[in-house]
Amino acid sequence: MNRSTINVLIQDALHFFDRHQFQLPPWARWTPADWCRRGAECDEIRRNLLGWDLTDFGSGDFDKLGLLLFTIRNGNLKNPDSHKSYAEKIMIVRERQVTPMHFHWKKMEDIINRGGGELVIRLYHAATADEHQLGTQEFAVSVDGVRRACQAGEVIRLHPGESITLEPYVYHTFWAEGGMTLVGEVSMVNDDATDNCFFEPCGRFPTVTEDVPPAFCLCTEYPTAASAN
Ligand SMILES: [Fe+2]
Repeated sequence: MNRSTINVLIQDALHFFDRHQFQLPPWARWTPADWCRRGAECDEIRRNLLGWDLTDFGSGDFDKLGLLLFTIRNGNLKNPDSHKSYAEKIMIVRERQVTPMHFHWKKMEDIINRGGGELVIRLYHAATADEHQLGTQEFAVSVDGVRRACQAGEVIRLHPGESITLEPYVYHTFWAEGGMTLVGEVSMVNDDATDNCFFEPCGRFPTVTEDVPPAFCLCTEYPTAASAN
């Protein structure tokens, strides 16, 4: 992705969050120069990959296959000193913009429509014989705490205020209909390096072409943790 596109998408996201009165922590607006001046006190942000996270899943077409996320809090499975066992993200899903089919081996997550259009989710359970295959079996899901049966490949539509609990091994792909949608995620610790099983192989973090200077740091781009210097 071009850096100029990333800069614009983050600026647009800040306006979208403002319009929905979803306020981010102050460091969401820090520039790369601001981050360079910050020391070890911000290492939780750097190490746990909090902050801006844009991806086109390696597609080269962010509007069709992509997602904008901001991780507000997260623990760290690699750090035994991290006692935080939970995570929260806020995301923007564009009209017909798809997040590809995947499940998580460990993470259970609630996906919440916090406003805008509808969030449309297609679900399968992983096949029992081969977890890399979509299962054909019926399984149970919880929608806003209400347990219900879900057929293989069924589509569930979440309107603003509605949420779904996705348990490990439940394949999910989602997109928005009826407008850009503000989507929350409340989950167990998130580890993108080890806990995403995509049905079709794809990239998780974008390759960035530096056509202009960065206006913000992505979560993978913070200057080296001060305490590690
Ligand atoms: Fe997921």
